[in-house]
Amino acid sequence: MTSKHYLIIGGSHGIGLELVRRLRADGAAVTVVSRTRGDLGTVSEVSHIEADVTAATLRREQLPEVVDGLAYCPGSIQLAPLRSITPELLLEDYRLNVVAAVQCVQAALPALKAAQQAAIVLFSTVAVSQGLAMHTSVAAAKGAVEGLTRSLAAELAPAIRVNCVAPALTDTPLAERFLQTEEKRKAMAKRYPLKRVGQPIDVANVAALLLGDQSDWITGQVIAVDGGMSRVRV
Ligand SMILES: NC(=O)c1ccc[n+]([C@@H]2O[C@H](COP(=O)([O-])OP(=O)(O)OC[C@H]3O[C@@H](n4cnc5c(N)ncnc54)[C@H](OP(=O)(O)O)[C@@H]3O)[C@@H](O)[C@H]2O)c1
Repeated sequence: MTSKHYLIIGGSHGIGLELVRRLRADGAAVTVVSRTRGDLGTVSEVSHIEADVTAATLRREQLPEVVDGLAYCPGSIQLAPLRSITPELLLEDYRLNVVAAVQCVQAALPALKAAQQAAIVLFSTVAVSQGLAMHTSVAAAKGAVEGLTRSLAAELAPAIRVNCVAPALTDTPLAERFLQTEEKRKAMAKRYPLKRVGQPIDVANVAALLLGDQSDWITGQVIAVDGGMSRVRV
């Protein structure tokens, strides 16, 4: 059991929700920020702040006084060929993945500093380390997230560790359209050295590790959780 309090931005669905389940199972208190409660009803005793983090900045007073760890989970997979990429699309992805992440960390900073040791986890994608067609906008935004991770890790050390998880295709609402049919699912699974797509728990396990004390000598890292896609040829 733990007495820690975690702030999970985007904990109502997908990887964030699985992370909330993991942290609650360990006995931690959890506050979730998201636009809807989503599937939060399936987890007991979670505080919820309803907010669209791209539309309004979180206020310090809304947040717990002490936050031992923050995960920023909102993200996008807007795939488009180069000819269809618009400044609006690029800015939308940058706003959600980078600008809002920075604003959430800024709002939570006093609470993170109030903890003995705190940790931040951000999310990138395999499409940064592995060039994938049609991923221009999301790869550019998530590349910025990886830079942000290292920069914040330097600025906030030694009190706050900052790391990043880079998943490949994971079975969440965000990736639903790639996994709608058995045919699509099988075709996607074949692309991975480990011959399956990710499940939210695969990614949440690593995020939970990076938020907790067991990783307290790890900062500034981008950890791939991608079935081997970014590094392995079979
Ligand atoms: N799933 C994949 O295949 C995959 C692959 C590579 C990288 N990733 C990255 O992994 C992270 C988690 O992905 P996921 O698949 O779990 O995503 P998801 O299923 O779309 O869940 C995203 C969470 O963020 C919340 N959210 C989204 N926009 C928000 C906003 N503007 N304000 C507040 N909350 C917001 C959503 O809740 P509400 O809708 O209730 O607001 C939800 O709880 C993302 O950064 C994603 O880019 C995912």
